[in-house]
Amino acid sequence: MSETVRGVIARAIGAPVEVVDVVIPDPGPHDVVVRVQSCGVCHTDLHYREGGINDEFPFLLGHEAAGVVETVGAAVTHVATGDFVVLNWRAVCGECRACRRGRPWYCFASNNASKKMTLTDGTELSPALGIGAFADKTLVHEGQCTKIDPEADPAVAGLLGCGVMAGIGAAVNTGNVSRGDTVAVIGCGGVGDAAIAGARLAGARTIIAIDRDPRKLAWATDFGATHTVDASAEDVVARIQELTDGFGADVVIDAVGRPETWKQAFYGRDLAGTVVLVGVPTPDMTIEMPLIDLFSRGGALKSSWYGDCLPERDFPVLVDLYRQGRLPLDRFVTERIALDEVERAFTAMHTGEVLRSVVVW
Ligand SMILES: NC(=O)c1ccc[n+]([C@@H]2O[C@H](COP(=O)([O-])OP(=O)(O)OC[C@H]3O[C@@H](n4cnc5c(N)ncnc54)[C@H](O)[C@@H]3O)[C@@H](O)[C@H]2O)c1
Ligand SMILES: [Zn+2]
Ligand SMILES: [Zn+2]
Repeated sequence: MSETVRGVIARAIGAPVEVVDVVIPDPGPHDVVVRVQSCGVCHTDLHYREGGINDEFPFLLGHEAAGVVETVGAAVTHVATGDFVVLNWRAVCGECRACRRGRPWYCFASNNASKKMTLTDGTELSPALGIGAFADKTLVHEGQCTKIDPEADPAVAGLLGCGVMAGIGAAVNTGNVSRGDTVAVIGCGGVGDAAIAGARLAGARTIIAIDRDPRKLAWATDFGATHTVDASAEDVVARIQELTDGFGADVVIDAVGRPETWKQAFYGRDLAGTVVLVGVPTPDMTIEMPLIDLFSRGGALKSSWYGDCLPERDFPVLVDLYRQGRLPLDRFVTERIALDEVERAFTAMHTGEVLRSVVVW
């Protein structure tokens, strides 16, 4: 039997989000209904609302979530009713060309629910990143559920489902930050601070946090930044060089995703170093630069989709590190809010008051 729950949708570019009735259909054979317990507000939700991802409105927003499996489809074997899960947006298919080549973290055909959630008038919703978890319940594919230790606080664990995993993975998986590396992170929101935490876990010796908001720089220090640069007042490239014996950092992570920050990452990097773009640009952004600079500086220019993570491999490990006190995941949660406060949380994100606002039930 389908059921009706509350969910937060974006109807049109720039229009404030609304809490409306959302119809959850019966799960298909490999689908699962999850009762959501927490869902963080990620900048990507705002990108959806601003039309920066695609124009498949209306969107059911929310994708950094944890909850409990409530109903399972007839063929589900991966999880069972009552399991505590973090939702992921890389449910590897096992069959696409990336999976077949042994690179499942790139999976080009990640599994999603076989049915659409709708408005009560039948209008199909596009769930953000195939999840849509600013809702009392959501419908996902069984592979989108990663079981983790039920002792973990949902508000904290759910953040692994997107921004925190993307940031840690950008450093550890994509950037391959290793012991003794120098690292710079541009943009210290949830994703950038997670990259800082990841660089610390990996043994980086210098971690430079760059933001234009002094509050963000103070928080970045708590996650392991050894130096801070105020991008609103200082020359970012010159400061990175100064702090790395004049050379530039081995790995520079752009967790903003704008042409100017990417260029800072590019020029703030040592010869043969690595640039990791984890912030998401919008389709109108372009970049122009001398091709000779790309050649003569060498190294790797990479993008990080979801931190090149494998949820089944990485989420449980990060929960263990958190529980051992080696990864301060709880510090990402600035405030716990209600479902009808998502619009206000967007404003708070915009004005820099929060790292993560998390909707809790
Ligand atoms: N690649 C992925 O898989 C993935 C996953 C999640 C989020 N993201 C993207 O990562 C980006 C960051 O997300 P978030 O949730 O941390 O956002 P956020 O808004 O919390 O943080 C962005 C930070 O960048 C800072 N900033 C903005 N412009 C700057 C500039 N010119 N110089 C220096 N700092 C600047 C802001 O002050 C803020 O602290 C977004 O683009 C988001 O869509 C990517
Ligand atoms: Zn695949
Ligand atoms: Zn996200």
